[in-house]
Amino acid sequence: MRLENQVALVTGGGTGIGRAVVERFINEGATVGVMVKEQTHADDLTTTFGDKVVVSVGDVRKFEDNQRAVDSVVSTYGKLDCFVANAGIWDYMGSLQEQDATTIENSYAELFDINVKGYVLGAKAALPALKKSRGSMIFTASSSSYFTGGGGFLYVATKHAVQGLIKALAWELAPEIRVNGVAPGGTLTNLSGPASTGMDTVHMLDAPGIEELIAGITPLGIPAQPEDHAGIFVLLASREDGRYMTGTTILSDGGIGVGKRPEE
Ligand SMILES: NC(=O)c1ccc[n+]([C@@H]2O[C@H](COP(=O)([O-])OP(=O)(O)OC[C@H]3O[C@@H](n4cnc5c(N)ncnc54)[C@H](O)[C@@H]3O)[C@@H](O)[C@H]2O)c1
Repeated sequence: MRLENQVALVTGGGTGIGRAVVERFINEGATVGVMVKEQTHADDLTTTFGDKVVVSVGDVRKFEDNQRAVDSVVSTYGKLDCFVANAGIWDYMGSLQEQDATTIENSYAELFDINVKGYVLGAKAALPALKKSRGSMIFTASSSSYFTGGGGFLYVATKHAVQGLIKALAWELAPEIRVNGVAPGGTLTNLSGPASTGMDTVHMLDAPGIEELIAGITPLGIPAQPEDHAGIFVLLASREDGRYMTGTTILSDGGIGVGKRPEE
């Protein structure tokens, strides 16, 4: 087991990629704090994982909610070794040309507040405990941290900002704290959109043809499942295997960057 006696905190860990990370970390010997938005996600995690998890309900946009999540982990398990910033939303490919200015203004605020400010405030809250444990941070980036086509201009901008955070914080917090990223490509989850555009109740999995769309842009020709990325988080969190890694983001995207293969 790679994470024996390690303690992690995962935001947005009630569903999708975050949930797969929680389960894998537990299977690797860790105990895990999970910050979720919905009480139903909290109940489900507690029922499934028992005392291996401590769950707090909150909004990553609020510092006090992030602080509460860190405090509950440290008071329950005595320390924090790894903070995983993962909670996020998508923009459903919203375009500059087709959306009106008010929609853009509102979506901008919501996407950047959750996808970027949420990571910053979580990192700030986790900092003292991670300094003490000489731990690490892992940020869920995206293929949209590198390429276009996996989101609209606002989502792509937030995920490029996440890349900037990974590099800048790796530099600032070395040598005590390692900071790395995992960049998934199209993954079959219920990723939702901004509430300000009514997209918070829409889910990526419900989008017609989503599997074919994702499969079509990757040389591997398949969409990812959340658990396909979980082992990379384990590698980066591991004090042995990830010891010499900081400021690095690992792509797990089916090879988007090598180019689309011609139709057969
Ligand atoms: N699904 C993909 O194709 C894909 C690809 C690349 C990157 N990502 C990234 O992976 C991360 C996880 O997304 P996912 O695909 O697993 O979708 P998901 O919707 O299953 O997970 C996102 C989680 O974040 C939570 N969340 C949203 N806003 C929140 C808030 N304000 N406060 C607290 N929690 C909040 C949601 O409740 C949800 O549980 C996101 O950062 C996303 O951008 C997803």
